[in-house]
Amino acid sequence: MLYLRFLPLLASLTTTTLSLSIKPDTQAPDDEDTTQLPLVIWHGLGDNYERDGLNKVAELAKTANPGTYVHIIRLADTGNSDRQATFFGNVSEQLELVCEQLAADPILSTAPGINAMGFSQGGQFLRGYIERCNKPPVHNLVTFGSQHNGISEFQSCGLGDWFCNAAESLLRSGTWVEFVQAHVVPAQYFRDSNDLAPYLEHSNFLADINNERADKKAEYKKRLSTLNLFVMYMFGNDTVAVPKESAHFADVNGTDGKVTPLKERNIYLEDWVGLKALDDQDRLDFRTLPGEHMQIEQDVLEKTFKEFFSATQNDALEKFVAGLGEDVESVPARLVAQPAF
Ligand SMILES: *[C@@H]1O[C@H](CO)[C@@H](O)[C@H](O)[C@H]1NC(C)=O
Ligand SMILES: *[C@@H]1O[C@H](CO)[C@@H](O)[C@H](O)[C@H]1NC(C)=O
Ligand SMILES: *[C@@H]1O[C@H](CO)[C@@H](O)[C@H](O)[C@H]1NC(C)=O
Repeated sequence: MLYLRFLPLLASLTTTTLSLSIKPDTQAPDDEDTTQLPLVIWHGLGDNYERDGLNKVAELAKTANPGTYVHIIRLADTGNSDRQATFFGNVSEQLELVCEQLAADPILSTAPGINAMGFSQGGQFLRGYIERCNKPPVHNLVTFGSQHNGISEFQSCGLGDWFCNAAESLLRSGTWVEFVQAHVVPAQYFRDSNDLAPYLEHSNFLADINNERADKKAEYKKRLSTLNLFVMYMFGNDTVAVPKESAHFADVNGTDGKVTPLKERNIYLEDWVGLKALDDQDRLDFRTLPGEHMQIEQDVLEKTFKEFFSATQNDALEKFVAGLGEDVESVPARLVAQPAF
């Protein structure tokens, strides 16, 4: 557990998250050849960082892989405001906040890498984090029911859900209106493949992060292709995130329902964001779970944690850090210089 060595350095910094992390860390197996990377979780629309279910997931992650430091991304300091921020806000500004939040965390920012798990929209936002900043760098990314190729319909809200209804009525008033793009979160990943012109012109988030515009950002491709693994789970009977195949980066024609898999699309063939580069090295993994959107059984989560977030071999981690290229400068020097590495 190379990672453990850094904890004493941080012991003087008293944050609640830190004191939470020390307990499981002391139970970690003493394995000098591996490092338990921290796990960052970004929750979905309508959820909040305080919710029991989410904290149960964090506990499961620590039980599956003792020594895991878990950070749940929050966009505000109360659960209610954090939930509000899943509906309202400029996603680019939210991403800037998350980049600052992760870089300021004493444990995350000194780790050689972090693992990341995104639920629903949190998945494409984590991908955005990787493409836009990736400091600290993500090692394995796992997304559940995320809308990597956008949504072509808006979900219907529960009765009496004020935030959701307010967001939805704004969406209906005009997805491509500047105000809506700047303030309503789901509008920023709305994409109708039969009507791409307004999307390419106005999309505040997805068209940029998927490098669909003529002016491609080379750094997006460079950063995403440093991932060790990109695992995408789709829910087989998902009726909430439409189309469900967006979870696998597929394109669906809303008129005739024809599904074009990622590997037949230009984003892959011309490798706009590094997905082909990842696939050429067997680093893409497409999985399907039975059931409705975000219905994940506990044992599936446990298996996921063990399969993708268990302690990483140090020699593999060394290669990962080297592969970060110029961005490696962001990793604190003392970490890169660790002799045991
Ligand atoms: C969202 O925020 C970014 C960063 O501040 C800004 O560049 C962009 O113009 C904003 N989007 C809209 C639609 O206002
Ligand atoms: C979607 O399907 C319709 C009907 O088959 C077709 O006319 C249209 O061109 C297709 N759209 C795209 C973007 O291929
Ligand atoms: C959808 O649900 C049905 C009934 O539970 C199941 O048999 C089927 O395999 C599911 N479909 C997918 C694609 O997962």
